[in-house]
Amino acid sequence: MLKPQKLVSANFLSSLDVSKEELFHVLELAREFKNKNLKLEFKDKVLGLIFDKSSTRTRVSFQVAMSRLGGTTIDLNPNTSQIGRGEPIKDTARVLSRYCDALAIRTFSQSDLEEYSKWSSVPIINALTDLEHPCQALADFLTIKEEFTNFKDVILTFVGDGNNVANSLILCGALLGAEVRIACPNGYEPNASIVNKAKQIYNNEDLLKINNDPCAAAEGANVLYTDVWSSMGEEINQKEKERDFNGFTIDNNLLSRAHKEAIVLHCLPAYRNKEITDDAFEGKQNRIFEQAENRMHVQQALLSCLLS
Ligand code: CP
Ligand code: NVA
Repeated sequence: MLKPQKLVSANFLSSLDVSKEELFHVLELAREFKNKNLKLEFKDKVLGLIFDKSSTRTRVSFQVAMSRLGGTTIDLNPNTSQIGRGEPIKDTARVLSRYCDALAIRTFSQSDLEEYSKWSSVPIINALTDLEHPCQALADFLTIKEEFTNFKDVILTFVGDGNNVANSLILCGALLGAEVRIACPNGYEPNASIVNKAKQIYNNEDLLKINNDPCAAAEGANVLYTDVWSSMGEEINQKEKERDFNGFTIDNNLLSRAHKEAIVLHCLPAYRNKEITDDAFEGKQNRIFEQAENRMHVQQALLSCLLS
């Protein structure tokens, strides 16, 4: 029976907090949880959830994952705790470490998350920052693994904003050896430092392509992936954004350029007929709800490694 292995890093702040081998291990473990081959007991373990931004999937999938492991979660709503009043992170982190066994945090800046990890004595998990969404990428690559035997044969094309989701896909793709293509409008490229790190990880840096041409990027792709054009906290200038992203919608035309057995992914929530047409969203190639379900399985696997 596969057993969770302790990860070298105490925290999961970034997709790069796991090695390639650890990433494969977490995905294998997630599959075992999904197939109900694994039952582990983390009775009395408590996961604190600090969410400075809204969430449906991440919050609920962490709650259910923890409950399936026999533990519990505490929802530390920043508005009803002293966090919202501006208590320093270094104080909050030291206090919560004495009550909780791990903290999953959704916030704006990656440096705030790093500040939590500096002062916390329990694992900190990135539940989304402006820079990365590493738990999402775990679920995305589990969904891809379920469809294709070998990551090395996969071309993943992300069309849209070079945002947190794109950044984590790039890093995870580099670790797993999948080809990642990002098609984004000028000025909306993924984080340059993340792109550089990914290129260093790939044996062949041609496997990461960033361009402004969704049609070229979709050519022969096995996975077409998109996310909202405006991430949480960036909702101003919607009209300008819609102009900039004209042509960056996943639709049947883009799908027809992809491999005939390509799958369509979206991290959700989605705006129909903006980043993806209703047809493409609801079509038979959609694996979006499998992907959403997989959030729970990968987080169960991640928690069992971090709490082991
Ligand atoms: N995909 C995702 O993180 O969804 P939520 O914002 O609902 O958690
Ligand atoms: N890029 C989106 C992802 C939401 C799950 C955001 O940050 O709002």
